[in-house]
Amino acid sequence: MRRVYFDNNATTPVLPEVFEAMQPYFGEYFGNASSIHHHGQETRAAVERARESVAALLGCRPSEVVFTSGGTEGDNLAIFGLAQAGDHVVTSTIEHHAVLNSCKHLEAAGCEVTYVPVDDRCLVDPDDVRRALRPNTKLITIMMANNETGVLQPVEEIAKVAAEADVYFHSDGVQAAGKVPIDVMRIGCDLLSISGHKMHAPQGVGALYVRKGTILQPMLYGGSHERSRRAGTENVPGIVGLGKAAELAREALERGDLAKMGAVRDRIQQTLLGAVEATGVNGDGAPRVPNTTNMYFDYIEGEALVIALDLKGLAVSTGAACSSGAIEPSHVLTAMGLRPDRARASLRFSLGKQNTPEDVEFALGVVPSTVARLRELSPVYNKTAVSH
Ligand SMILES: Cc1ncc(COP(=O)(O)O)c(C=O)c1O
Repeated sequence: MRRVYFDNNATTPVLPEVFEAMQPYFGEYFGNASSIHHHGQETRAAVERARESVAALLGCRPSEVVFTSGGTEGDNLAIFGLAQAGDHVVTSTIEHHAVLNSCKHLEAAGCEVTYVPVDDRCLVDPDDVRRALRPNTKLITIMMANNETGVLQPVEEIAKVAAEADVYFHSDGVQAAGKVPIDVMRIGCDLLSISGHKMHAPQGVGALYVRKGTILQPMLYGGSHERSRRAGTENVPGIVGLGKAAELAREALERGDLAKMGAVRDRIQQTLLGAVEATGVNGDGAPRVPNTTNMYFDYIEGEALVIALDLKGLAVSTGAACSSGAIEPSHVLTAMGLRPDRARASLRFSLGKQNTPEDVEFALGVVPSTVARLRELSPVYNKTAVSH
């Protein structure tokens, strides 16, 4: 059976070049990067090369890159590394649970948190962030790109608000890395987290940019790895994979591959809007990463559509992978003001570098007919059929 994977915001396949770069670090080069002998020096050099590649992708110094186990750890390290009881933190209602649940935990630990809203295009207003500031605000944490809608937040303006108030600014860049250029100096953020598996490196590795001079309370205690910011023997193969993926991502951005992907995404959207009635794009009109579109198909349960499409060989998602299966509609779409039934009728299509034009044709072939079949079974749709 032909299988097409359009759920690259959940995770991406490791690219063959990335796999090839990692392979020797499972065998030939096995040393502990902290060992002073030959074996350790080999892996130490590989880790430092990868650090340079990640720094080049983010526009920072290699010494400002802390390797982590992924996006969740990077977000947690930024938040818990800075905020302490009595501090105030500003975040948004559309953050990934790695940030939202960290903020909930902060509240339980004696911090105050303000959750700024978004408009109907999924955009945070930097003025709302400014208005949320208090004398004890320590940190603003607002994502760069939303994982469900792909909408890019005005992070440069938010960084200005933070700088004027002398408040730290962390951005979850997990869904932006490799999809749009990131330059932490131009953005003006103090911390930015990325995750390997969203950019064709393996699962379980990531990095946190920490601006020079930022003192973080570590979350793990142990050796002095990662300049005492993250104890624990380095995941050398994973880090090597992340470094290679960062190099490939930079080259792809420079070549304009991502702009081409944006054109493919737009064609998918336009074709589906034309072929299916009572459909629309969530986050339309806002700047978005080029691989993502989130569309509603009214009168349908998104979960049912995901299952029906999966049976035909197309993998898509109703939202954040970690909350799939939850009965509650997506917190992101609800925060944008979507009616609960429309939020439940929404699907996310997210492209990756491995997708081909044939994959796109396949998806465009199966989605309209599957929506039509499910709508035939929908009493609400049939009751209002006269108005279609
Ligand atoms: C925006 C965002 N932040 C954080 C994460 C968590 O990253 P990881 O899976 O590497 O822990 C994800 C993963 O879905 C994400 O989309």
